[in-house]
Amino acid sequence: MYYGGDYNPEQWPESVWDDDIRLMRAAGVNLVSLGVFAWARIQRAEGEFDFGWLDRILDKLHAGGIGVNLATATASPPPWASRAYPEILPKDASGATYWHGSRQAYAPTSPVYRRLAAELAGAIAERYACHPAVVMWHVNNEYGCHVHADYSDNAAVAFRAWLRGRYGDIEALNDAWGTAFWSQRYGDFEEVVPPRLTPSSVNPSGLLDFKRFTSDALLDLYRMEKSIIRAAGGAQPVTTNFIGAFEPIDYRSWAADLDLVADDSYPDPADAESFREAAFDRDLMRSLKPGVPWVLMEQAPDAVNWRASNSPKAPGQMAALSVQAVARGADGVMFFQWRQSRSGSEKFHSAMVPHAGTGTRTWREIVELGRNLAGLPRLSAEVDAPVALIYDWQNRWAVENSDHPVRFDYLAVVRQWHAAIHRQHVTADIRHPDDDLSKYAVVIAPQLYLLTDASAANVAAYVAGGGTLLLSAFSDVVDEHDRFAAGGFTTRLGATLGLRVRDFGALPLDAHDRTTVTVSLGDASMTGRLFAEELDLIDATVIGHFRDGRLQGHPAFTSRTNGSGTAYYLATIPDEDGMRAVTARIFAGAGVRPPVDRLPQHVEAVVRDGRLFVINHSGQPFTPPSSFGRRPEAASEAGDTIGAYGWRVFGRAAS
Ligand code: GAL
Repeated sequence: MYYGGDYNPEQWPESVWDDDIRLMRAAGVNLVSLGVFAWARIQRAEGEFDFGWLDRILDKLHAGGIGVNLATATASPPPWASRAYPEILPKDASGATYWHGSRQAYAPTSPVYRRLAAELAGAIAERYACHPAVVMWHVNNEYGCHVHADYSDNAAVAFRAWLRGRYGDIEALNDAWGTAFWSQRYGDFEEVVPPRLTPSSVNPSGLLDFKRFTSDALLDLYRMEKSIIRAAGGAQPVTTNFIGAFEPIDYRSWAADLDLVADDSYPDPADAESFREAAFDRDLMRSLKPGVPWVLMEQAPDAVNWRASNSPKAPGQMAALSVQAVARGADGVMFFQWRQSRSGSEKFHSAMVPHAGTGTRTWREIVELGRNLAGLPRLSAEVDAPVALIYDWQNRWAVENSDHPVRFDYLAVVRQWHAAIHRQHVTADIRHPDDDLSKYAVVIAPQLYLLTDASAANVAAYVAGGGTLLLSAFSDVVDEHDRFAAGGFTTRLGATLGLRVRDFGALPLDAHDRTTVTVSLGDASMTGRLFAEELDLIDATVIGHFRDGRLQGHPAFTSRTNGSGTAYYLATIPDEDGMRAVTARIFAGAGVRPPVDRLPQHVEAVVRDGRLFVINHSGQPFTPPSSFGRRPEAASEAGDTIGAYGWRVFGRAAS
């Protein structure tokens, strides 16, 4: 179990370093991410490297028994670089430049930036590939975090090359993008520009490709650095830190290039429900590389400093969120950052060693968590998850394009489904429609708007093979180019569902997206939002009707049996209570049960490697009804009660 954080010794006189290492040992720290923003310190000018300080701190850390996750330090070029080569700076869609003086001011496709980054990463890797302290490589930092997309001339050149690779000839691009509309036909790839500021909405297929290109361009940069590390003889695992369900990057397409997945996670401690959002991100990270434990690379020991108001964590809350990550597959709990900065943009951001020193609650909790994590049994990566929830970045990009029947936040809806499942104490993997779904008892697929033929065939095969699928409104609408298929909607999954969608029936948006319809569900009812679709039934069974609105009396919720499998279709997007009611009904039918019963809403229960993790994410103490027939193996505190933000790990169930 890795335990530690970002360590930035370049911000401190060397006289502090011995104290750092003494305190790290006291806290049980065994890994630090070193040098993430140290480019300007390592390289004072082009060609001038100063490694003396890095040699000294690496040796000291090694002597102290602390491993290093060594950064390639390429995340923020120093001012000398953009002064000498202004073309490395990225631009926004309106052509404005992002200047240095903050961080991440580089265009990922700039040949000069890439050369400078390669020289730096190469010099670091050659010097330290065999250093015994180095156990992992931290490439760059949170790719795209601040610059979600670059629209510079460098980007334009690279985008055209990417399009040439994808389409071969310009007529294939014209066909894919539907450029016959609005006089957009291109005669040559050289005429294509990134989707910069335009008078009206930009071509949606082109925008989708630009998002794919942006994700691929950053991946290419990561690959460049990883190959430099390998060429220098660095055989340690290589990773970079993800940011949960971060919109600009399709992390699924990156996962194979990371030796292990690492995630940065900053749920708002003031939001009593944010632990559910964190649970979604943890499930997503686990699912990106099944069977390989991931690492929580950054979280805040206490408050952050970049929200409008930055609440401290409640006593124990930091540990509860840390243990949640472990329960959901993490083999490392790390923080930003080790010692609180005295100056700069993040001086108010909490740290493992707070500015107020070691007499603080934060420090005590850091030491206690280090001890508790070290006491956990060794765990396999196996987390029990009977349900798959579908999340697909490319679909998200397409759903969130403009000019649709109704605008909505794809991720928010997916998270609501996850929260509805989570409230029932059921664990879900987060999967893609192309993944092997056969092991899941239930697959929930919210708005599969963009669907390739291969994905559709995979989902249909899952149902035909005995699976239970729930698909909701705005699904099977377009192909990978954001084009309608010939012959209407639901053309690929219609046979599995036993219906075709005739019209999407957008519901008007009021200030809170709350214009709703009522859908009958047995004797009860639920509330639908955003869509009230008109369906043409073929051979589906109706299990719920619209009770009001334009489609009153029309089918809203259907099912169709396919051999031993079942496909449900919901012609609206329920609110969270509705999501819960629908999934509870489907889970009951498919035999999906939580690992233990009768837990309160704010207590989560997850089984990893056969062990039951029970975590209380509220200020209300909770006494489990029994020991669940299991022996307690580790806990935040002794006694029968799991106190506020307490947790307990129970051993394997007696078989
Ligand atoms: C992350 C970033 C860190 C630090 C942290 C806290 O996004 O990688 O360098 O800024 O947030 O704000």
